Amino acid sequence: MTDRPLTILGIAGSLRRESYNRALLRAAARLAPPGVALSTFERLGEIPPYDDDVRLASGLPGPVADLWRRVAEADAVLIACPEYNYGPSGVLKNAIDWISRPPADTPLRHKPVAMMGASTGNFGTARAQLSLRNTLAYLDAYVLARPEVAVFRAAERFDAAGELVDEAGRELVAQLVAGLVDWTRRLSG
Ligand code: FNR
Repeated sequence: MTDRPLTILGIAGSLRRESYNRALLRAAARLAPPGVALSTFERLGEIPPYDDDVRLASGLPGPVADLWRRVAEADAVLIACPEYNYGPSGVLKNAIDWISRPPADTPLRHKPVAMMGASTGNFGTARAQLSLRNTLAYLDAYVLARPEVAVFRAAERFDAAGELVDEAGRELVAQLVAGLVDWTRRLSG
């Protein structure tokens, strides 16, 4: 029997055109196994600062509703998490906050999720990813434990075109996507 195709929604937590995390997500899309379609959410910059009054008075703003729907429809989510001051970027956390209310309804609940990250520092977003894991635990997402993909000193591992050229990094990203696919299939029985 052949496995059914899977869809993964990729979210990169950086708005920068030449973002290493967006580049990492592109690498993941290219390294995904056959039968897996990885698309990316490109409207992070349109998401306003979280405001509970707005949510309660007028519902979710358009780009947030779009993110909600795309997370709900995807079989799994892959997050590329930048590290800002030892935590995930504000735009990423803000987007997660928007789709987290009410917690019983969040599309991240019981959603298979994997994370990775690239930073120019020596610890490759390890601290931000720990924090992101905590957030996702609160939301009851099913977060893949490993491999841990923390691309440190990113400037040495991507070429000028934004291609992940580091072989060990490419291997880890491929393992992460394959692991997420396996995790998703196990969870869906
Ligand atoms: C950073 N950077 C950073 N790097 C790191 O390893 N640990 C950190 O705590 C921080 N903190 C931090 C704060 C702020 C406000 C900025 C702008 C940057 C550097 C960061 O890893 C680098 O800018 C990456 O290139 C950001 O990811 P993208 O945009 O390339 O995906």
